[in-house]
Amino acid sequence: MVLPIMAYGEPVLRKIAKEIDKDYPELEKLIEDMFETMYATNGVGLAAPQINKSIRLIVMDATPFTEIEGLTEAEIKLATGKKVLINPVMLDEFGEEWSFNEGCLSVPGVNEDVKRYDTIEISYYDENFNFHKEEIGSILARVIQHEYDHLQGIIFTDHLSSFKKRLIKRKLENISKGKVDVNYRMKFPKR
Ligand code: NI
Repeated sequence: MVLPIMAYGEPVLRKIAKEIDKDYPELEKLIEDMFETMYATNGVGLAAPQINKSIRLIVMDATPFTEIEGLTEAEIKLATGKKVLINPVMLDEFGEEWSFNEGCLSVPGVNEDVKRYDTIEISYYDENFNFHKEEIGSILARVIQHEYDHLQGIIFTDHLSSFKKRLIKRKLENISKGKVDVNYRMKFPKR
């Protein structure tokens, strides 16, 4: 089932999401629905708050980004296919900072360069509640950083300079009012 995406301004996007355990009701179905929603909207990642669930759950599939030049074999392998992160903890972010033009299903029509560290150390549980602790770099790290922010109530536009923020202020207001052209189902706070 494709779920509606919460638009910029929805309060759930500003909450710190809560951890879940194996007994979370219909978790398997929820993960399936989140993947279906992510593929239907051409996203590479989706965090549960974006479908109105304030829980620490991320799905991702960064396959479209594996076309980017300069990726190693290992990075391509890691970015390809479905990945589920439950209760992730960002342990460290390091390396060089690099800019990448980010967008977000909750903020349609806004794409801006965001600077982030190129490598992360993260722990998480997968869909079978197996524990992982991994060092991840490149584009997959970028997707995780963006989705992890959603669990912390942070949206990528928060990282922009105050100058850039002023430039997109009106656009963000319009999104929260539903005044935006979008080809997937969304829930808007002020409509
Ligand atoms: Ni996003």
